[in-house]
Amino acid sequence: MGQPSEVARTWTPSSWQSFEAAQQPTYPDPGAVDSALKQIHGFPPLVFAGEARSLQAQLGQVAAGNAFVLQAGDCAESFDEFSAVNIREKLRVILQMAVVLTYSLGVPVVKVGRIAGQFAKPRSSPFEKIGGEDLPSFRGHIVNAAAATSAARTPDPDRLVQAYHQSASTLNLVRAFTKGGFADLNRVHAWTQEFVASSAEGQRYEQLASEIDRALKFMRSCGIETETSDSLRSVDVFTSHEALLLGYEEALTRQDSVGGGWYDCSAHMLWIGERTRQLDGAHVEFLRGVGNPIGCKIGPDATADDVLQLCESLNPARIPGRLTLISRMGAERVESSLRPLLQAVRESGHPVVWQCDPMHGNTFSAPNGLKTRHFDAICGEIAGFMRAHAAEGTWPGGIHIELTGENVTECLGGAENLLDTDLDGRYETICDPRLNARQSLDLAFRVAELMRTSGVA
Ligand code: TRP
Ligand code: MN
Repeated sequence: MGQPSEVARTWTPSSWQSFEAAQQPTYPDPGAVDSALKQIHGFPPLVFAGEARSLQAQLGQVAAGNAFVLQAGDCAESFDEFSAVNIREKLRVILQMAVVLTYSLGVPVVKVGRIAGQFAKPRSSPFEKIGGEDLPSFRGHIVNAAAATSAARTPDPDRLVQAYHQSASTLNLVRAFTKGGFADLNRVHAWTQEFVASSAEGQRYEQLASEIDRALKFMRSCGIETETSDSLRSVDVFTSHEALLLGYEEALTRQDSVGGGWYDCSAHMLWIGERTRQLDGAHVEFLRGVGNPIGCKIGPDATADDVLQLCESLNPARIPGRLTLISRMGAERVESSLRPLLQAVRESGHPVVWQCDPMHGNTFSAPNGLKTRHFDAICGEIAGFMRAHAAEGTWPGGIHIELTGENVTECLGGAENLLDTDLDGRYETICDPRLNARQSLDLAFRVAELMRTSGVA
């Protein structure tokens, strides 16, 4: 499968360089960046084109209203929190959420991690004043370190190479866990963490897991071998990140030996952020040419016209599953902001996946200055998203969540009702506040309920 002919004629992996690229770091030594990128260009791809096509086919099912997509993981992966435990715990929560959604919605759930490459962060300002000094903003560990010193904040090209290696090891472990037995549905009870087990949402999960156990036992009694069935024993968890640093993405863009098209082999899926989705900008130019399924964040100021033009640029051939529009409106505005967009896209006939990011429109600073989000606002945005879809007759295709498997205290509320005075306890994120494992599991149950009560599922 090659690219549409217009792309083949006008696009190359480096054509973005003649466009304005927002949010790129300024490195002190551009020569060192070139040599880091050259090195990465020589490294093996992290994913294969065929996998990206398989994800696109699964997302095509979401676009058609026959499946749901769960995309979840860190706001920003950290070079310091890089361990097997960290990856395993994140995967556990994602698997638990996926089980709850699959069982409750009765449709396949496409699983995509913000993982194995989610390092680069866009910033509202290139500099930040700390203690009277102007320091370069922290842009994620692929660029610089977070400490408030000029040495830490200076963009370091070696970090590009380190990000590649961390992505490779993370992906390797994800593949091992998802294909090697850890994700076996016969082990559905084993994904509950100790600190979750005794909680209300933990017990609700245990009950659901017992029902699945019973169903599996029933199938075995009927002569179906559940222990050796590949579809029960393994899952596809795809990787994704924001394609922000275009030099890095270009270095991992490879021509597919099967179909000849170009794929960005740094992850299965890439998305464009709200701050970099300019129609005449470098990010849209780069991503329009790769064969991966791609996403684009859509904020409350996007007009129907903006969205239609993005659809035309990014998916002119109207391939189902190629384009996911990720709305991030804020709980208050989602229903009124989203409805005209849903209507316009529906009337245009573009086959998009609509996904709700209920995190980024609901961030605020707590009295102690820490960035946080309230669980109720997150649920509120998802509820508004569902109502908008129910009203327009479109399919609420999925959710996009920032979470961790750890017992952190970064988002307020939830069943344990975290208060702003609790935030100091375990506030560990290097960027935005994430749902902890209990809040994430709770959210999966809420989403399933909202799908049923809004009349879309
Ligand atoms: N392979 C199926 C799926 O991905 C069933 C499955 C196996 C599963 N293990 C899982 C589903 C873990 C969710 C979580 O849907
Ligand atoms: Mn974030």
